[in-house]
Amino acid sequence: MTEKRVDDASPTLVVGASGTVGRHVGLQLAAAGVRVRTLTPRDLLDPTSLEAAAQGVGAVLLGWPHPTADAAADAVGVLAREVGRVVFLSSAVPGRPEGAIEALLARSGVRHTVLRAYGFAAALQWAEQIRSEGAVRGYGGAAGLNPVDERDIAAVAVRALVEDGHEGARYLLTGPESPTQAEQVGIIGEATGRPAKWEEIPRETARHRMSATGRTRAAIDSTLDFIHARITAPEPATTTVQDITGNPARTFRAWATDHAALFR
Ligand SMILES: NC(=O)c1ccc[n+]([C@@H]2O[C@H](COP(=O)([O-])OP(=O)(O)OC[C@H]3O[C@@H](n4cnc5c(N)ncnc54)[C@H](OP(=O)(O)O)[C@@H]3O)[C@@H](O)[C@H]2O)c1
Repeated sequence: MTEKRVDDASPTLVVGASGTVGRHVGLQLAAAGVRVRTLTPRDLLDPTSLEAAAQGVGAVLLGWPHPTADAAADAVGVLAREVGRVVFLSSAVPGRPEGAIEALLARSGVRHTVLRAYGFAAALQWAEQIRSEGAVRGYGGAAGLNPVDERDIAAVAVRALVEDGHEGARYLLTGPESPTQAEQVGIIGEATGRPAKWEEIPRETARHRMSATGRTRAAIDSTLDFIHARITAPEPATTTVQDITGNPARTFRAWATDHAALFR
């Protein structure tokens, strides 16, 4: 792999620099001496703001934490015109808008790399329930989705942003093992020293909850079907984090130990 010099004068644009992965990407780029410019995901929806932020940018870390791909065509169009390279934080779970954005990137002709994950180790959506009740109510406790540590995603993203040789790649990033969702909650309990357990809810209740996020019924069903299928076929681990960064992917237990304070 040919290394592009990281002292390239062009700044790198980080969308969602306060976010789970974006925060680490910004810090790791700055530590490598790369100039960083930031943009909120809301400004992605406004072509004028995006156009201004993208001027003179070499590479962009793109996240799309929006419930639909509406307005994505305009955003991708601006990026394809203005920036040399896009690294997209995507999802390996079907029924989400990321698939449409991957297709837009491919059609736009911009050089890009796709980083897909099943789920982030950052199980912050469980934090409040674990803190207050020592339990998480959810669907598919027996599903093994293989969470990946956001620091490992960030390390791969930084490589793809600053090095040549990743264009066109679709990397599937996972942790080294596939604990079920119920096991993940148990691991968090062990890390905090206060037991935590999974309480299964019916699929219909899960669908109702997810409808509050603005996603369509078909998209929600597709995600729920995927989770159900992971009960009998847990997601296998990939070696991509180690292949790209040279360091083994962190375990979910390591993530939980490092972040136990969030769950106490
Ligand atoms: N979370 C996962 O498990 C997961 C799994 C696979 C792929 N991904 C991908 O990773 C990327 C980041 O997703 P994320 O959910 O984890 O985001 P996140 O890190 O929680 O948030 C990223 C940024 O988006 C902002 N944000 C969050 N929700 C928003 C919304 N609905 N509208 C506008 N701004 C919003 C946050 O700013 P504020 O804090 O200021 O609101 C933050 O700066 C996305 O492209 C997603 O597809 C996530």
